[in-house]
Amino acid sequence: MISAPRRKISGACQADGAQGARKRPGVTRGRLLWTEPRAEGQDTTFGDQENGLGPEAVLRIEGEDLSVAEQDRHGRRAADERRSPSSGAGPGVSLVLEGRRAFVTGGGAGIGRAIVLALAAAGARVAVTDLDGDAAARVAREAGEGHVALRLDVTDAAATAAAVTQAAAALGGLDAAVANAGISTMARVVDLTEAEWDANMAVNAKGVFLTDQAIVRHFLAHGTKGSIVNTASLAAKVGAPLLAHYSASKFAVAGFTQALAREVAAQGIRVNCVCPGFVETSMQSREVVWEAELRGMEPAAVRAEYISLTPLGRLQQPEDVADVVVFLLGEGARFMTGLAVDVNGGAFMS
Ligand SMILES: NC(=O)c1ccc[n+]([C@@H]2O[C@H](COP(=O)([O-])OP(=O)(O)OC[C@H]3O[C@@H](n4cnc5c(N)ncnc54)[C@H](O)[C@@H]3O)[C@@H](O)[C@H]2O)c1
Repeated sequence: MISAPRRKISGACQADGAQGARKRPGVTRGRLLWTEPRAEGQDTTFGDQENGLGPEAVLRIEGEDLSVAEQDRHGRRAADERRSPSSGAGPGVSLVLEGRRAFVTGGGAGIGRAIVLALAAAGARVAVTDLDGDAAARVAREAGEGHVALRLDVTDAAATAAAVTQAAAALGGLDAAVANAGISTMARVVDLTEAEWDANMAVNAKGVFLTDQAIVRHFLAHGTKGSIVNTASLAAKVGAPLLAHYSASKFAVAGFTQALAREVAAQGIRVNCVCPGFVETSMQSREVVWEAELRGMEPAAVRAEYISLTPLGRLQQPEDVADVVVFLLGEGARFMTGLAVDVNGGAFMS
Protein backbone atom coordinates (compact mmCIF):
# COMPACT_ATOMS: atom_id res chain seq x y z
CA MET A 1 0.00 0.00 0.00
CA ILE A 2 1.24 3.45 -0.79
CA SER A 3 1.48 5.67 2.24
CA ALA A 4 0.22 9.21 2.13
CA PRO A 5 3.00 11.65 1.30
CA ARG A 6 4.33 14.25 3.66
CA ARG A 7 2.34 17.40 3.32
CA LYS A 8 3.63 20.83 3.79
CA ILE A 9 0.96 23.17 5.02
CA SER A 10 1.59 26.87 4.94
CA GLY A 11 -0.59 29.40 6.67
CA ALA A 12 0.76 30.30 10.07
CA CYS A 13 -0.87 33.37 11.49
CA GLN A 14 1.01 36.50 12.35
CA ALA A 15 0.32 39.19 14.89
CA ASP A 16 -3.01 40.93 14.55
CA GLY A 17 -2.83 43.79 12.13
CA ALA A 18 -3.55 47.23 13.45
CA GLN A 19 -6.17 49.24 11.63
CA GLY A 20 -5.73 52.70 10.45
CA ALA A 21 -3.03 54.13 8.28
CA ARG A 22 -3.05 57.72 9.42
CA LYS A 23 -1.26 59.49 6.73
CA ARG A 24 -0.11 59.18 3.18
CA PRO A 25 3.39 57.78 3.38
CA GLY A 26 6.51 59.43 2.15
CA VAL A 27 7.24 58.46 -1.41
CA THR A 28 10.80 57.95 -2.40
CA ARG A 29 13.02 57.93 -5.40
CA GLY A 30 15.01 54.78 -5.99
CA ARG A 31 13.30 51.70 -4.67
CA LEU A 32 10.00 53.15 -3.63
CA LEU A 33 8.73 51.29 -0.62
CA TRP A 34 8.80 47.84 0.67
CA THR A 35 8.36 46.22 4.00
CA GLU A 36 9.91 43.35 5.80
CA PRO A 37 8.87 41.15 8.70
CA ARG A 38 9.46 42.61 12.11
CA ALA A 39 12.68 41.64 13.76
CA GLU A 40 12.73 40.22 17.27
CA GLY A 41 12.48 42.96 19.87
CA GLN A 42 11.16 45.68 17.58
CA ASP A 43 8.40 47.93 18.81
CA THR A 44 5.15 46.03 18.49
CA THR A 45 2.75 48.87 19.08
CA PHE A 46 2.80 50.16 15.53
CA GLY A 47 5.11 49.32 12.69
CA ASP A 48 5.65 52.79 11.33
CA GLN A 49 3.16 55.41 12.34
CA GLU A 50 4.54 58.00 9.99
CA ASN A 51 3.87 55.69 7.09
CA GLY A 52 0.74 54.03 8.40
CA LEU A 53 2.09 50.52 8.75
CA GLY A 54 0.84 47.97 11.24
CA PRO A 55 2.90 45.80 13.56
CA GLU A 56 3.38 42.97 11.09
CA ALA A 57 5.70 44.95 8.90
CA VAL A 58 8.32 47.62 9.00
CA LEU A 59 8.46 50.07 6.18
CA ARG A 60 11.79 50.50 4.50
CA ILE A 61 12.38 53.63 2.48
CA GLU A 62 15.36 54.54 0.38
CA GLY A 63 16.11 57.71 -1.44
CA GLU A 64 14.54 61.12 -1.37
CA ASP A 65 10.92 62.18 -1.11
CA LEU A 66 8.83 62.58 -4.22
CA SER A 67 5.52 64.33 -4.61
CA VAL A 68 2.55 62.17 -5.60
CA ALA A 69 2.59 63.59 -9.12
CA GLU A 70 6.29 62.84 -9.45
CA GLN A 71 5.68 59.38 -8.15
CA ASP A 72 3.00 58.78 -10.75
CA ARG A 73 5.25 60.01 -13.55
CA HIS A 74 8.10 57.94 -12.17
CA GLY A 75 6.00 54.78 -12.05
CA ARG A 76 4.77 55.34 -15.60
CA ARG A 77 8.29 55.91 -16.90
CA ALA A 78 9.46 52.69 -15.26
CA ALA A 79 6.58 50.83 -16.87
CA ASP A 80 7.40 52.35 -20.26
CA GLU A 81 11.02 51.32 -19.89
CA ARG A 82 10.01 47.79 -19.03
CA ARG A 83 8.09 47.38 -22.23
CA SER A 84 10.52 49.19 -24.51
CA PRO A 85 12.48 46.98 -26.96
CA SER A 86 15.66 47.62 -24.96
CA SER A 87 14.03 46.21 -21.83
CA GLY A 88 13.25 43.00 -23.66
CA ALA A 89 9.55 43.31 -22.94
CA GLY A 90 8.84 43.36 -26.67
CA PRO A 91 5.99 44.92 -28.59
CA GLY A 92 2.30 44.36 -28.05
CA VAL A 93 2.10 45.25 -24.36
CA SER A 94 -0.23 48.16 -23.77
CA LEU A 95 -0.85 50.30 -20.74
CA VAL A 96 -4.38 49.01 -20.21
CA LEU A 97 -4.09 49.49 -16.45
CA GLU A 98 -2.30 52.82 -16.46
CA GLY A 99 -2.95 54.74 -13.25
CA ARG A 100 -4.58 51.76 -11.53
CA ARG A 101 -3.51 50.64 -8.07
CA ALA A 102 -3.75 46.92 -7.37
CA PHE A 103 -3.60 44.74 -4.26
CA VAL A 104 -2.31 41.19 -4.90
CA THR A 105 -2.15 38.31 -2.42
CA GLY A 106 0.27 35.41 -2.79
CA GLY A 107 2.30 37.69 -5.06
CA GLY A 108 5.69 36.36 -3.99
CA ALA A 109 5.86 33.31 -6.26
CA GLY A 110 4.35 31.40 -9.16
CA ILE A 111 1.11 32.71 -10.63
CA GLY A 112 0.98 35.61 -8.16
CA ARG A 113 4.44 36.79 -9.16
CA ALA A 114 3.49 36.65 -12.85
CA ILE A 115 0.32 38.61 -12.08
CA VAL A 116 2.28 41.33 -10.28
CA LEU A 117 4.74 41.65 -13.18
CA ALA A 118 1.94 41.71 -15.76
CA LEU A 119 -0.01 44.35 -13.83
CA ALA A 120 3.14 46.47 -13.52
CA ALA A 121 3.88 46.07 -17.24
CA ALA A 122 0.30 47.18 -17.97
CA GLY A 123 0.93 50.41 -16.04
CA ALA A 124 -0.53 49.59 -12.61
CA ARG A 125 1.21 50.17 -9.31
CA VAL A 126 0.98 47.12 -7.13
CA ALA A 127 0.88 46.28 -3.43
CA VAL A 128 2.56 42.87 -3.47
CA THR A 129 1.56 40.80 -0.44
CA ASP A 130 2.60 37.31 0.57
CA LEU A 131 3.00 35.11 3.62
CA ASP A 132 6.68 35.19 2.70
CA GLY A 133 7.52 38.86 3.16
CA ASP A 134 10.98 38.54 1.60
CA ALA A 135 9.50 37.00 -1.54
CA ALA A 136 6.94 39.81 -1.75
CA ALA A 137 9.75 42.37 -1.42
CA ARG A 138 11.79 40.64 -4.15
CA VAL A 139 8.87 40.64 -6.58
CA ALA A 140 8.01 44.28 -5.80
CA ARG A 141 11.60 45.22 -6.67
CA GLU A 142 11.52 43.02 -9.77
CA ALA A 143 8.37 44.84 -10.92
CA GLY A 144 10.27 48.11 -10.94
CA GLU A 145 9.65 51.34 -9.12
CA GLY A 146 6.42 52.51 -7.59
CA HIS A 147 5.35 49.26 -5.97
CA VAL A 148 5.09 48.26 -2.32
CA ALA A 149 5.38 44.95 -0.51
CA LEU A 150 3.81 43.68 2.67
CA ARG A 151 3.95 40.43 4.53
CA LEU A 152 0.39 39.14 4.83
CA ASP A 153 -1.23 35.93 5.95
CA VAL A 154 -4.63 35.93 4.23
CA THR A 155 -6.15 33.71 6.93
CA ASP A 156 -5.81 36.58 9.42
CA ALA A 157 -8.80 38.91 9.15
CA ALA A 158 -7.32 41.83 11.10
CA ALA A 159 -4.00 41.65 9.26
CA THR A 160 -5.79 41.51 5.89
CA ALA A 161 -7.88 44.57 6.70
CA ALA A 162 -4.77 46.39 7.93
CA ALA A 163 -2.80 45.45 4.81
CA VAL A 164 -5.52 46.87 2.56
CA THR A 165 -5.46 50.11 4.56
CA GLN A 166 -1.67 50.26 4.40
CA ALA A 167 -1.56 49.49 0.69
CA ALA A 168 -4.15 52.15 -0.05
CA ALA A 169 -2.18 54.68 2.00
CA ALA A 170 1.05 53.80 0.20
CA LEU A 171 -0.40 53.85 -3.31
CA GLY A 172 -2.85 56.72 -2.82
CA GLY A 173 -5.89 54.42 -3.09
CA LEU A 174 -6.83 51.04 -4.54
CA ASP A 175 -9.05 50.21 -7.49
CA ALA A 176 -8.08 46.63 -8.33
CA ALA A 177 -7.35 43.45 -6.39
CA VAL A 178 -6.30 39.88 -7.05
CA ALA A 179 -7.01 37.34 -4.30
CA ASN A 180 -4.55 34.74 -5.50
CA ALA A 181 -2.92 33.18 -2.41
CA GLY A 182 -3.53 29.46 -2.22
CA ILE A 183 -2.11 26.18 -1.01
CA SER A 184 -2.66 22.55 -1.90
CA THR A 185 -2.04 19.15 -0.38
CA MET A 186 -2.85 15.76 -1.85
CA ALA A 187 -4.47 12.72 -0.29
CA ARG A 188 -7.27 10.25 -0.85
CA VAL A 189 -10.39 11.28 1.05
CA VAL A 190 -10.13 8.15 3.22
CA ASP A 191 -6.71 9.35 4.41
CA LEU A 192 -7.42 13.06 4.50
CA THR A 193 -6.91 14.67 7.89
CA GLU A 194 -9.12 17.30 9.39
CA ALA A 195 -6.08 19.59 9.67
CA GLU A 196 -5.51 19.31 5.94
CA TRP A 197 -9.13 20.08 5.15
CA ASP A 198 -9.04 23.09 7.49
CA ALA A 199 -5.75 24.43 6.11
CA ASN A 200 -6.90 24.29 2.48
CA MET A 201 -10.23 25.89 3.37
CA ALA A 202 -8.55 28.55 5.51
CA VAL A 203 -6.19 29.83 2.83
CA ASN A 204 -8.10 29.10 -0.38
CA ALA A 205 -11.69 29.86 0.63
CA LYS A 206 -11.56 32.00 3.78
CA GLY A 207 -8.51 33.88 2.49
CA VAL A 208 -10.42 34.93 -0.64
CA PHE A 209 -13.44 35.94 1.46
CA LEU A 210 -11.32 38.04 3.84
CA THR A 211 -9.37 39.71 1.03
CA ASP A 212 -12.46 40.49 -1.03
CA GLN A 213 -14.35 41.72 2.03
CA ALA A 214 -11.57 44.15 2.99
CA ILE A 215 -11.25 45.34 -0.61
CA VAL A 216 -14.99 45.77 -1.15
CA ARG A 217 -15.26 47.71 2.13
CA HIS A 218 -12.47 49.98 0.85
CA PHE A 219 -14.16 50.40 -2.56
CA LEU A 220 -17.54 51.18 -0.98
CA ALA A 221 -16.04 53.64 1.51
CA HIS A 222 -14.39 55.55 -1.35
CA GLY A 223 -17.08 55.12 -4.00
CA THR A 224 -14.60 53.21 -6.14
CA LYS A 225 -15.94 51.22 -9.09
CA GLY A 226 -13.13 48.75 -8.71
CA SER A 227 -12.49 45.30 -10.09
CA ILE A 228 -11.51 42.07 -8.32
CA VAL A 229 -10.16 38.79 -9.67
CA ASN A 230 -9.95 35.70 -7.48
CA THR A 231 -7.79 32.71 -8.36
CA ALA A 232 -9.92 29.58 -8.45
CA SER A 233 -8.85 26.51 -10.46
CA LEU A 234 -9.74 23.88 -13.01
CA ALA A 235 -10.53 22.01 -9.77
CA ALA A 236 -13.37 24.52 -9.28
CA LYS A 237 -15.03 23.12 -12.41
CA VAL A 238 -14.39 19.39 -12.05
CA GLY A 239 -13.78 17.44 -8.87
CA ALA A 240 -10.12 16.45 -8.91
CA PRO A 241 -9.21 13.04 -7.43
CA LEU A 242 -6.67 13.25 -4.57
CA LEU A 243 -7.61 16.91 -4.27
CA ALA A 244 -11.18 16.66 -2.93
CA HIS A 245 -10.51 19.16 -0.14
CA TYR A 246 -8.71 21.53 -2.54
CA SER A 247 -11.54 21.14 -5.09
CA ALA A 248 -14.09 21.94 -2.40
CA SER A 249 -12.17 25.10 -1.48
CA LYS A 250 -11.99 26.18 -5.13
CA PHE A 251 -15.68 25.46 -5.84
CA ALA A 252 -16.23 27.72 -2.83
CA VAL A 253 -14.20 30.46 -4.52
CA ALA A 254 -16.30 30.22 -7.71
CA GLY A 255 -19.59 30.32 -5.77
CA PHE A 256 -18.42 33.16 -3.55
CA THR A 257 -17.25 35.13 -6.61
CA GLN A 258 -20.64 34.80 -8.27
CA ALA A 259 -22.61 35.77 -5.15
CA LEU A 260 -20.37 38.75 -4.36
CA ALA A 261 -20.54 39.90 -7.98
CA ARG A 262 -24.34 40.05 -7.73
CA GLU A 263 -24.16 41.91 -4.40
CA VAL A 264 -21.88 44.71 -5.55
CA ALA A 265 -22.77 45.09 -9.23
CA ALA A 266 -25.08 48.00 -8.43
CA GLN A 267 -22.10 49.89 -7.03
CA GLY A 268 -20.16 49.33 -10.25
CA ILE A 269 -17.78 46.80 -8.69
CA ARG A 270 -16.91 43.74 -10.80
CA VAL A 271 -15.80 40.40 -9.36
CA ASN A 272 -14.56 37.48 -11.46
CA CYS A 273 -12.33 34.49 -10.94
CA VAL A 274 -9.85 32.65 -13.14
CA CYS A 275 -9.59 28.88 -13.33
CA PRO A 276 -6.05 27.84 -14.32
CA GLY A 277 -5.21 24.27 -15.36
CA PHE A 278 -1.83 22.56 -14.92
CA VAL A 279 0.46 25.49 -14.22
CA GLU A 280 4.21 25.01 -13.87
CA THR A 281 4.90 26.48 -10.41
CA SER A 282 6.31 25.27 -7.11
CA MET A 283 2.80 24.15 -6.17
CA GLN A 284 2.76 21.90 -9.22
CA SER A 285 6.24 20.53 -8.45
CA ARG A 286 5.03 19.46 -5.02
CA GLU A 287 1.83 17.96 -6.42
CA VAL A 288 3.69 15.97 -9.07
CA VAL A 289 5.78 14.27 -6.39
CA TRP A 290 2.77 13.56 -4.17
CA GLU A 291 0.64 12.29 -7.04
CA ALA A 292 3.43 10.05 -8.32
CA GLU A 293 3.78 8.53 -4.88
CA LEU A 294 0.04 8.09 -4.36
CA ARG A 295 -0.49 6.49 -7.79
CA GLY A 296 2.75 4.51 -7.95
CA MET A 297 4.02 6.38 -11.00
CA GLU A 298 7.14 8.27 -11.97
CA PRO A 299 6.90 12.08 -11.63
CA ALA A 300 7.74 12.41 -15.33
CA ALA A 301 4.72 10.26 -16.19
CA VAL A 302 2.47 12.49 -14.07
CA ARG A 303 3.75 15.55 -15.92
CA ALA A 304 3.25 13.84 -19.27
CA GLU A 305 -0.33 13.07 -18.24
CA TYR A 306 -0.96 16.73 -17.40
CA ILE A 307 0.22 17.65 -20.90
CA SER A 308 -1.86 14.92 -22.54
CA LEU A 309 -4.93 16.27 -20.70
CA THR A 310 -4.23 19.72 -22.17
CA PRO A 311 -5.32 20.02 -25.83
CA LEU A 312 -2.96 22.94 -26.48
CA GLY A 313 -0.20 20.46 -25.69
CA ARG A 314 2.08 21.94 -23.05
CA LEU A 315 2.20 22.72 -19.37
CA GLN A 316 0.59 26.04 -18.60
CA GLN A 317 2.83 28.95 -17.64
CA PRO A 318 1.99 31.50 -14.92
CA GLU A 319 2.02 34.23 -17.58
CA ASP A 320 -0.86 32.49 -19.39
CA VAL A 321 -2.99 33.23 -16.32
CA ALA A 322 -1.55 36.68 -15.62
CA ASP A 323 -2.48 38.05 -19.06
CA VAL A 324 -6.11 37.06 -18.53
CA VAL A 325 -6.11 38.67 -15.09
CA VAL A 326 -4.88 41.93 -16.64
CA PHE A 327 -7.71 41.75 -19.17
CA LEU A 328 -10.35 41.03 -16.50
CA LEU A 329 -9.20 43.95 -14.36
CA GLY A 330 -9.19 46.31 -17.32
CA GLU A 331 -11.77 48.30 -19.24
CA GLY A 332 -11.98 45.63 -21.94
CA ALA A 333 -13.85 43.43 -19.46
CA ARG A 334 -16.20 46.22 -18.31
CA PHE A 335 -19.34 44.13 -18.92
CA MET A 336 -18.01 40.91 -17.41
CA THR A 337 -18.78 39.98 -13.82
CA GLY A 338 -19.47 36.88 -11.75
CA LEU A 339 -17.54 34.66 -14.17
CA ALA A 340 -15.23 31.74 -13.54
CA VAL A 341 -13.00 32.11 -16.59
CA ASP A 342 -11.24 28.96 -17.84
CA VAL A 343 -7.55 29.51 -18.61
CA ASN A 344 -6.32 25.97 -19.08
CA GLY A 345 -5.23 25.23 -22.66
CA GLY A 346 -8.51 23.40 -23.25
CA ALA A 347 -8.14 20.95 -20.35
CA PHE A 348 -11.73 21.76 -19.47
CA MET A 349 -14.23 23.48 -21.73
CA SER A 350 -17.46 24.78 -20.26
N1 LIG B 1 -0.13 25.69 -10.07
C1 LIG B 1 -1.27 25.25 -10.54
O1 LIG B 1 -1.30 24.28 -11.32
C2 LIG B 1 -2.58 25.92 -10.18
C3 LIG B 1 -3.72 25.54 -10.90
C4 LIG B 1 -4.92 26.15 -10.58
C5 LIG B 1 -4.99 27.10 -9.59
N2 LIG B 1 -3.86 27.44 -8.91
C6 LIG B 1 -4.01 28.46 -7.87
O2 LIG B 1 -3.19 29.56 -8.19
C7 LIG B 1 -2.80 30.24 -7.00
C8 LIG B 1 -1.29 30.38 -6.98
O3 LIG B 1 -0.72 29.09 -7.03
P1 LIG B 1 0.79 28.82 -7.45
O4 LIG B 1 0.80 27.62 -8.30
O5 LIG B 1 1.41 30.07 -7.94
O6 LIG B 1 1.37 28.42 -6.01
P2 LIG B 1 2.80 28.69 -5.36
O7 LIG B 1 2.85 27.76 -4.20
O8 LIG B 1 3.84 28.63 -6.39
O9 LIG B 1 2.68 30.18 -4.82
C9 LIG B 1 1.70 30.49 -3.84
C10 LIG B 1 2.09 31.76 -3.09
O10 LIG B 1 1.08 31.98 -2.10
C11 LIG B 1 1.72 32.27 -0.86
N3 LIG B 1 0.86 31.87 0.28
C12 LIG B 1 0.63 30.62 0.76
N4 LIG B 1 -0.15 30.69 1.84
C13 LIG B 1 -0.42 32.00 2.06
C14 LIG B 1 -1.16 32.70 3.04
N5 LIG B 1 -1.76 32.07 4.06
N6 LIG B 1 -1.23 34.05 2.94
C15 LIG B 1 -0.59 34.70 1.95
N7 LIG B 1 0.14 34.10 1.01
C16 LIG B 1 0.22 32.76 1.06
C17 LIG B 1 3.02 31.48 -0.89
O11 LIG B 1 3.97 32.01 0.03
C18 LIG B 1 3.43 31.62 -2.35
O12 LIG B 1 4.21 32.75 -2.57
C19 LIG B 1 -3.36 29.41 -5.85
O13 LIG B 1 -4.59 29.96 -5.42
C20 LIG B 1 -3.57 28.05 -6.48
O14 LIG B 1 -4.55 27.30 -5.81
C21 LIG B 1 -2.66 26.88 -9.17
